[in-house]
Order: sequence, then C-alpha cells, then structure tokens
Amino acid sequence: MNSFMIDKNIFKYTFGNPIDTETICLEGEKKDEQYIKFVKLEEGEDLNLIYKMDDSDIVYGLGENQRGINKRGYIYESFCTDDPIHTENKKSLYGAHNFIIIDGKDKFGMFIDSPSKVVFDVGYSKRDELKVNIEDKNVNIYMIKGFKPKDIVRKFLKIIGDTYVPPKWAFGYQQSRWSYKNEKEINDIANKFIEEDIPCDAIYLDIDYMDKFKDFTINKKDFPNFKEFVSNLKDKGFRLIPIIDAGVKIEKGYKVYEEGIKNNYFCSDKEENPFMAAVWPGRCHFPDFLNKDTRNWFGLKYKILTDLGIEGFWNDMNEPAIFYTDRSLKEAIKSAKDSEKKNLDIYSFFDLKDKFTNMSNNLEDYKSFYHNVDGKIINHYKVHNIFGYNMTKSAAEGLKQIEPNKRFLLFSRSSYIGMHKFSGIWTGDNSSWWSELLQNIKMMPSLNMCGFLYIGADTGGFGNDSDSELVIRWTQFSMFTPLFRNHSALGTRSQEPFAFDKTTTNITKNAIKIRYALIPYIYSEYMKAAIDRNLYFSPISFEYDDEISRRVENQILCGDSIMLAPIYEQNAKGRYVYLPEDMLLWKPDNYLSKNYKVVKKGHRYIDVDLKEIPIFIRKNKMIVKTEAALNVEKIEDKQLNIIAFVEDKAKYLYYDDDGKTYDFKKGRFSTIAIEIEKVEDDFKISVKNKGNRLVKKINFEIIDIEGKVYTKTISLEK
Ligand code: GLC
Repeated sequence: MNSFMIDKNIFKYTFGNPIDTETICLEGEKKDEQYIKFVKLEEGEDLNLIYKMDDSDIVYGLGENQRGINKRGYIYESFCTDDPIHTENKKSLYGAHNFIIIDGKDKFGMFIDSPSKVVFDVGYSKRDELKVNIEDKNVNIYMIKGFKPKDIVRKFLKIIGDTYVPPKWAFGYQQSRWSYKNEKEINDIANKFIEEDIPCDAIYLDIDYMDKFKDFTINKKDFPNFKEFVSNLKDKGFRLIPIIDAGVKIEKGYKVYEEGIKNNYFCSDKEENPFMAAVWPGRCHFPDFLNKDTRNWFGLKYKILTDLGIEGFWNDMNEPAIFYTDRSLKEAIKSAKDSEKKNLDIYSFFDLKDKFTNMSNNLEDYKSFYHNVDGKIINHYKVHNIFGYNMTKSAAEGLKQIEPNKRFLLFSRSSYIGMHKFSGIWTGDNSSWWSELLQNIKMMPSLNMCGFLYIGADTGGFGNDSDSELVIRWTQFSMFTPLFRNHSALGTRSQEPFAFDKTTTNITKNAIKIRYALIPYIYSEYMKAAIDRNLYFSPISFEYDDEISRRVENQILCGDSIMLAPIYEQNAKGRYVYLPEDMLLWKPDNYLSKNYKVVKKGHRYIDVDLKEIPIFIRKNKMIVKTEAALNVEKIEDKQLNIIAFVEDKAKYLYYDDDGKTYDFKKGRFSTIAIEIEKVEDDFKISVKNKGNRLVKKINFEIIDIEGKVYTKTISLEK
C-alpha cells in the first residue's frame, strides 16, 4: 500500500495497480500519514475495511440507493443493475456511488475508487460494524477529514471536478412516455399542453422513434419528416429528447454496426469475437466505451441527430442491461426440454423458472466479455461500474466536439461517481407507489453528496398505473428537482397532467407554474452549487446540528433558503414537521398566492390541502421568483419578486447567465447581491447589481418574525 496526501485533509491509499477511473482529478505527494487508522484493514482474497460504529454515528452517502438518508442498518452493493422493482430488499440500483460519510464520534469520509463490485455492510451483519468489502484489491481509497459532514462532502466535491451544467431550458417541465409513437401523437400532446396553458419545455422520444430500435436511426414510417417535425415543435416551444441505448443491433448494412465491426469497436468475448447479448433490438454488440477510439466514434454519432435539430439526449440500458445471451438462452431451453417429461416438484419447478429469470443480467455473462483499454485487455466484471459512465462520457465528449460551447441536455441511467462531470442522471424505473416518492425525496441529498446535481425521478412513477393524487403530490415534490420529468412505462395508464380530471389538471398546472415562477431561485441555487462545488439538496442536519435534526429523514433543504416537507402519503391532508428554528410557511396553490405564516420552532402539524405546496423559508433567508411563462426561454426576468423572512439581516445572491453556453466558466454571468436589514421598525434594502441588464425592478415582501408583511419596490434603472 502507498499513501499520498492530496491536501492536509485528504489522504489517498493505493493498493496494487488500480484502474484509473478518472474520477479524481488531483494527484498528491507521497506521505506516510496513517489516516486510514480509523478503519481496520483486513486483507484476504478481498480487501475489507472495518469500522466500529458508535451508537450515535450516522452514515451518509452512497448516492442512488434504497432506504434512508442515514444508511445504517442495511447492506448495499455497488454493482450497476437494471432492476425495475425497487422493493426494500434490493441491494443495488443503476448507479455505483462509493462515497460514505461517518458523522458521530469520529467524522470522516471515505471514497472507494473501484469500478468492480464493492459491498457496504452498514451494521447489517453486525449491528455496530461498518464493513466495506472490496472485491478487486487493486484500488484507490480516499479518506477525508472534516469537522462536519457538510465540510467533508465539500472537500470531496472539490477533488472530483466540476459538475455538469445543462441548458437553462432543461430546468423546465418535461413530458415523457414509453412511447409517444408517432408525429401525430406527439403533436397532440404538445397541443394539449398549449391548450391547457401548462408550461412544458421538452417532450421525449422513447425507443419507438428508432428504426427497429437501432441507435441513430429514425423510424420513417411514424416520423416521415423528422427534421421539419423537430423544428416545428421547437417553434411551438418544445424540444424533442431522443433516447440512446447501449446495445448496437447486429444487422448487415446498418452503418453503426458495420463500422463497429470493421474497426473493432465492440467488446469482445473469450475467442476475441464481438460479444453478443440481446437487448431491445434482439442480438446486439456493446461498444467498448472504455476504449478511447470507440468513445470518440460513438460520441460523434450523436451528430446524426444534432444535425436534425436535436439538443438533448438520455442514455439508457447502460449498466449494461442484458436480456439474454446465446449461452443463457441455450441453457434455459435445454432445461425446459429436459423438464418436459418430468413431474416437476417444488425444487425442479423453481429451478426451471429461475433458469429463465436468470437469463437476464447474469453474472456469468458479465464475466465473459472484455474491454481493450489502451491495449490492455480487461475483463468486464472488473470495470462493470464504469461502463455507463464511459458511454455518457463518450456522448459528452462527442457533443463537445460537435458544438464546443453549447450546453446540451444529457443524462444517463447507469452511473459512477465522476460521471457527474459529463451529465445528470435520472433514478431509473421506479414504480407508481407512494413508497417510491418517499425514496425519491431521501435519495436526492445522497446523490448531491456524490456530485450529481442534475437529478430527478420519473414523476408519477414509471412502472404500474399511477393515480391522480400520486401524480399531484409527486409533481409537487419534483417541481424542486433540477430534472423535472413525468415518465411512464409501456402499457401503463396515461399520467400527463391532463390525463385525469379537470381538478387534477388545474392542480398540477399550478404546481408546474410555481416551478416556472421559481426558476430564478432554482437556477441561481443550482448554478451557485455547481460553481462553488456545493449541495443543492441536503439533509437538514447539514445546517442544523441539534439532535432532532439529525433524525429527520422526510424533510430536506433545497438551496440555501428553502426547507421542503413534502406530502408523500395517500389521502394526507397535512403532516408533522420539525422546525429547528422559526420559519415562514408559504403554502401556494398558485404562484401568486400570498398566504404567509410564521411557524414557531419545534414539532408542528400543518394542514396541507391537495392543491397546496408547503414551502418553508428559513429564518433570515429569502427566495426569488418571477412571472411564470409557458417555456423557460419565455420567462421575462424584468421584475423579480422576493419573499423574505427576516429577523435581523438576510442576504441573497441572485445569479443569471446566458443559459446556453459555457461562458459562465469565463466569468460571464451576472449577479445581484441583495441585503435586507432590520432597522428599528422598518427594513433597509441594499441591492448591488453586477452586470444584470434584464432585471428592472425588484418587488419585496418582507415578513418579520411576528408575521407582519412589509412591501417595497426597488428600481434598478438609472
Ligand atoms: C428502460 C428505461 C425507461 C424506458 C424503457 C424503454 O426501462 O429505464 O425509462 O422507457 O427502457 O426505452
């Protein structure tokens, strides 16, 4: 083992000869410091890190995973998995996010930079023991010291690089379904949004837009005039977002396939033939995304669609998902044939059944193909968790070559820490269950801790039929997630905002409009988090360190000023909320609502009607909103409206930029620094504008600690 010091709080330990995942961007200097002393190292066939947990310890992190914000009590396996049934017994989802933070007697963070399987047993086998099992002993481990979990997270975010920033329009509402099947159906959906006056910025193209599910092709029968269609929809205010899958169909004459074969761009099997696995189109090959040349080739294929006017993509099935291989199919068929004449009993019947279920995403298959990484042949199993990461890196690098200074929308299903540099993620195939909404709420801060900022779930739930109340309550939470998309599976009930009754349409419309009115706040908070390497969502304990805040799992902070206490239960007309300090409750049912109420510190029950959204504004903080519009680009920021809850002094930094390019990285953005100070019976406001030419007027509603409202206006024009 070698140890390095990256800075005085971060130590790197290298075991063996690890694969460079390119997650960490900094190198350290050699040093003997044994910070790893917190954990006991146990070296056998695998490497184990063991930490004795104190009763008071909270364990944060692990990004996209089941269960609580506090991960104690369960076991989590980092092994990217295509599993759409997210019941509590599942140990892996689509991402591998090996960052964990211990907050208690000791305080430290630990990042296991291994693209192979890593298991985090957080007091599951032994109640007071955290055991991290690392299968591949060639690994880099990073230990991070800090006084508070938030400091530790921020130090980690500093070493993993800048997060992806989407175009500003991607903060608008987005409508998806597997699948809107043809031009007419999509036009009807778009027209319905316009007719109902519901804001929407994007409509999704799921697998049926392709010709026989072949990447970078168009199904000409259903989309005969694709380019014109894309452009007409854009004129109406909607961007079209096509899906791209990891598997390339094996078909003579299909260009992507032919080029891949000719240039050896696909993963290979033991015999050095292209590895075959079946996904949507039937038999496919997987591009070897760990290979630079393949990445460059595949990434530039996105140009076929950008040339047709496309400005955003979602990368899917990139764990990679496998339906079956020739091997698993043959085995299952043989078992079926062998069973034909047998009297199947409990054991043999279930054996047979398992043969079929285990055809998909089978470990034996993952162990049977290879990558060529700079001439070195590596078994897939060893690098499984960075396959989707590299597919998305390929897309991002391709798009960068296609239009270097343009921000594209890009997000992926599978991920590994470090992929946040290239795209966002969505949380995969959830179900239309209330428990998934609560899981969604808990997952958001954990994902931010791992660097992923552009995140969101399938609002309303993907699998199974949704219902109007679930769609409403889910929309009322997702309106705060950077990626705000309603998506549902083939064969399920429609769940667009207008798919139910008039009341549901009106309530969801108002929630979506509040989202648009809040874009000045949401975008400012997102961009400040991206630039300063900070969190957008966090557990309330990251700001309030009282004992009760450390226990709260169903309220989260959103940006610097808001505490969310979403409704996630059927028929709920309210909920209990814990307030670590006095806060201002704004419960809008439309973006112009003015029903402010000061809620005193402590445990409170609040009524929340179906149409209301409980937004708590923290003490000495403010939020900024504007007029809603049908698209993000149509929002006029001429007037900002501030709601502030001020005891003595509050500050806010409003951020804006062109929303389209990376010029903000060169300092081309504007800010308005707002300060409100209580002076005797009134409030003094100071506004410092740095380069914002759009905002002409700021209207203030300042609510004091007694609930008295003061209204003021400041004009920014000279
Ligand atoms: C996968 C995706 C889902 C998509 C479906 C069809 O299940 O996760 O979002 O709709 O494939 O492409």
